[in-house]
Parts: sequence; structure tokens; C-alpha cells
Amino acid sequence: MIDTITVHAPGRVNLIGDHTDYAGGLALPCAIDLGVTIRGHRTPEFIALTSDAEPGSIRLRLDELFAQREPTTSGAIDDTLPLWGRYVAAVAQECGIGSGFEGRVTSTLPSGAGLSSSAAFEIALALAFDFPGPPMELARLGQRAEHRAVGVPCGLLDQMSIVLGTAGHAMLIDFADLTHTPVTIPEDLDIVVVHSGQERQLVDSKYAERRASCELAAQRIGPLPGAALDDLSDLDPSLAKRARHVMSECARVRDAADALRRNDPISVGRLMTESHASLRDDFEVSTSALDDLVDRLVSIDGVFGARLTGAGFGGCVVAICERGAIPEPTALTGRGWILRPADGARIISD
Ligand code: GLA
Repeated sequence: MIDTITVHAPGRVNLIGDHTDYAGGLALPCAIDLGVTIRGHRTPEFIALTSDAEPGSIRLRLDELFAQREPTTSGAIDDTLPLWGRYVAAVAQECGIGSGFEGRVTSTLPSGAGLSSSAAFEIALALAFDFPGPPMELARLGQRAEHRAVGVPCGLLDQMSIVLGTAGHAMLIDFADLTHTPVTIPEDLDIVVVHSGQERQLVDSKYAERRASCELAAQRIGPLPGAALDDLSDLDPSLAKRARHVMSECARVRDAADALRRNDPISVGRLMTESHASLRDDFEVSTSALDDLVDRLVSIDGVFGARLTGAGFGGCVVAICERGAIPEPTALTGRGWILRPADGARIISD
């Protein structure tokens, strides 16, 4: 008899703290109740997957994959594979000698929305391929697979949120030492996510350029989360703006976590809306569609604050509000969700 295995990895929404992970800063994400599920059985020699979200099927031989395997190199995977197949190959190569898998992928996560559909896919695949390591190793594996599959030099925000999520909680992550502390989300608060209508494409985006600017600024003035505002005068104006975003965002994350702990949603919301302004004006990763949506959301009664979530350049806005303030999030742009903070990635049956 063949054992059927089901694995699930949630997406994540970042409540506050964007473009801080790769700079050693702070973020406050939570895993969400939308995600990627893979169901099937382990096989000795090959991977065969179909998906409800993608056309065609992916079939890869493990011996060929491992023969091609090189140390992680950005964008190292054969780009004649469809994009989702590149993730499959990259995760399998990162897992090393594991088992193959035959099954079907289903997803409730929109792609290109800033809710980490690719990281959820990576983590679900690694569980399906029987990756045996502890949670932080699983998160790092997902990050390396992202670099390998598409060459995006992402930080660890998405993969840590997905692996370490706890129902009912956000997680305060300090990327300087990778410590993470659960923070309860009050029951009477709704987390509403609304799609701006603009698909986000990180591969061709200015994500890598923003990261390089932060690294350059840190070489000049030291780690950005601990830098002083006075240090900014040593940087040229555009670098100073990028650095100022990281510095001010880390302070806002700390304040937002404190405000959540004392059940002060008004302050959390204000900090979120300030975060959006910083991502728009200093980090310059917003779009007019995202700005308009934030304005629309914060004008609704019972909404405490709103901001773009994730990398920016399109995708979604997250708002926090009184329970029921936005009963039909889909009514705003056609795509929206009321999300609950969920548990992290797991094997459901084995
Ligand atoms: C993407 C990356 C993350 C993080 C966010 C911005 O989601 O994958 O590592 O940098 O953008 O906060």
C-alpha cells in the first residue's frame, strides 16, 4: 500500500517591518490561513507534480538533478523550465539526497501579491521531499532555493514567518540574531488584505538594487538598525533616504509590537500608516495604486491603519481594523481577504 502524505505551508502577511530583514533589522509578520498544500506519495527516483494553479506538469529525475547540482548560485536553474518547475528543481537540489515525490499542488494563495506564495511553495516542497532538518534550517533552505531558482537575493522574512508561525500570534523577529518572539493579536482585531490589482514581479524589480543600497550604506555608517540619524549626513541623499527608511522602520516595528501587547490598536495603525509613507517616500517601493488603496482604507470607519505589505512594487495592502469594519474586502478592488494568524508549515498526515 502506498502511504499518502499531505503537507501544508501557509503564506505570510507582514504587519510592519519591510526591507529590514536583509539589513539585520526588525519585522512583525504572521503566518496566515491561506497557503500551499501538496498531497501525494514519496517515490525513489523522480519528482512528478501537477498543480491547480499552473498549467502542465513537472517531471524531474533525481539522478539528473543531482548531477547538475552546483553550490547555490543565483538563478542557477535551467530557465527553460516553467517558473514553478524551477522552484521544484531548486528545492530538490537544496534538499540533496532526499526522496522524490509524486502528487498534486493546490494553493489558496494568490501569486505575485506580496503574501509569499513562492516561499510557501518552497517550504511545502521541502517537507514533501522529506527534508529532515530543524525549522531554522528549513527556512534557510527555502531562502537558498529562492536564490537558486530565480536569483532574487531575498532575506529570511518570508521563510521564517512560514516555518515558525503560531495561530493567533504575530512574530517579532530580530534579524540581527534571528530571535523571534510571539506577540498575541487581539481577538477583536481584523487583519484585512486587499490586492491593488497590480501583480508584483520581484525577479525584474528593483529589489536587488534596494538591497545593494542598504549594504553600501551599512558599509559606510555601520549596521543600519543601530545607526544614528546624524550618521545620515555622511551619505549621499538617495542612499540616506534608503538608510533612513530602515532605521525608522525598525523603531516603528518595536513600537508596534509594544502597542499590540498593550492592546492599543490605534497606535499600531498609526505606525503602519507611517511605515507606508516611509516605504513610499524614502524607500520608493510603492506605486500609485498602492498609495490610493492605503488612502481609501484609512478613510473607512474602524480602520486603524494600512500599508503596503512585502516588497512593494505592486501586490497587496494590509490594514488592521475593528472586527467587521470591512465586512467584504473583495468589494474594494475585486480581491481581498480577512485573514487569521495561522500555524506554521507542517506535515498533516504521514
Ligand atoms: C520580499 C523578500 C523578503 C523581504 C520582503 C520585504 O518578501 O522575500 O525577504 O525582504 O520582500 O520586507
